[in-house]
Amino acid sequence: MAKADAGKSIDALDLRRAFGAFATGVTIVTTADQNGEVYGFTANSFTSVSLDPPLLLVNIAKSAYGLQIFTEASGFAINILAQSQRDLSNTFASRGADKFANIGWNVRATGSPLFEGVIAWFDCEIFQQVDAGDHVILIGRVLDYEYNSDSPLAFCRGAYVSFGLSPSMLQMVASRGKLRVGALIEDDDRILLETDVDTGEVRLPVADSVDDSDTANSLIGLLSEVGIEAHLPFIYAAYHHDNTRYVYYRGGLRSPGSLQENPHLHFVGFDQIPWQAIRDSAITTMLKRFINEHSIDNYAVYIGGLDSGEVYPLKIED
Ligand SMILES: Cc1cc2nc3c(=O)[nH]c(=O)nc-3n(C[C@H](O)[C@H](O)[C@H](O)COP(=O)(O)O)c2cc1C
Repeated sequence: MAKADAGKSIDALDLRRAFGAFATGVTIVTTADQNGEVYGFTANSFTSVSLDPPLLLVNIAKSAYGLQIFTEASGFAINILAQSQRDLSNTFASRGADKFANIGWNVRATGSPLFEGVIAWFDCEIFQQVDAGDHVILIGRVLDYEYNSDSPLAFCRGAYVSFGLSPSMLQMVASRGKLRVGALIEDDDRILLETDVDTGEVRLPVADSVDDSDTANSLIGLLSEVGIEAHLPFIYAAYHHDNTRYVYYRGGLRSPGSLQENPHLHFVGFDQIPWQAIRDSAITTMLKRFINEHSIDNYAVYIGGLDSGEVYPLKIED
């Protein structure tokens, strides 16, 4: 590993590699000029800056084709990409002539393109620009924004990163017995719970997996059959017990109010969970961990047996 001490010259490529150890999301920064021509580039230098006033920043290289357009524009937008938008990221990381061909987008306050399918966007007016070495820092004041619970595209050490677990990790717990897939679906400090109308037992929604290789999506399909349109981007826990393997995902509703009238399934406030009706101690433990982690917005992944296990690191792809 290269180390910079006093007097040692810094190799730009090596420094870029070191900066690359910091895992980020991926954004596309967009703007429009006075003629309505639109521009955009992929950036992972996005950072939130301030809540009051609402500020964020992104760095644009002075070598970028779009530098002048962005520094003369009165506003710009940040589009935070979903895990499925790698191709979009690659398109906007190129100097292609028409990066916007075949892409659905619309505009709000500033006229900067806001893409369909992103997990969040921020429409900003320019607050300040700071000249910084070979980049210009664009600081924007947020005028409007939206977000959803879909899974983010992430980037680390020059590669896209997945928040899922690798097949080999899943295999560790998926080695024997049948597979059941469950969900922690959160909506505004409430969690989706299932009640067995015969016994009164309360649990998290769970289903026998129909597709071993794509458990999250098979569960989404099963939930959809009962009227729940959910995003389940993150593995939350995987364990085995009594010859059954359990994999729980966490996520949210695709859109508020998509839960149809249903006698078994209901959202329950975190402070109103009927703990005595939950008979599976693994679910009690998981729910308590979830509520605690939700309050600090910092989630772990549990892998192991019912009583003891480990928190696994996320997987780096490619
Ligand atoms: C994951 C990723 C992150 C990037 N982050 C930035 C960034 O923060 N700032 C920047 O100026 N370029 C960044 N780039 C490079 C630009 O996307 C690339 O140079 C692009 O060609 C610039 O577009 P333009 O020259 O058409 O303006 C990034 C590229 C990738 C793949």
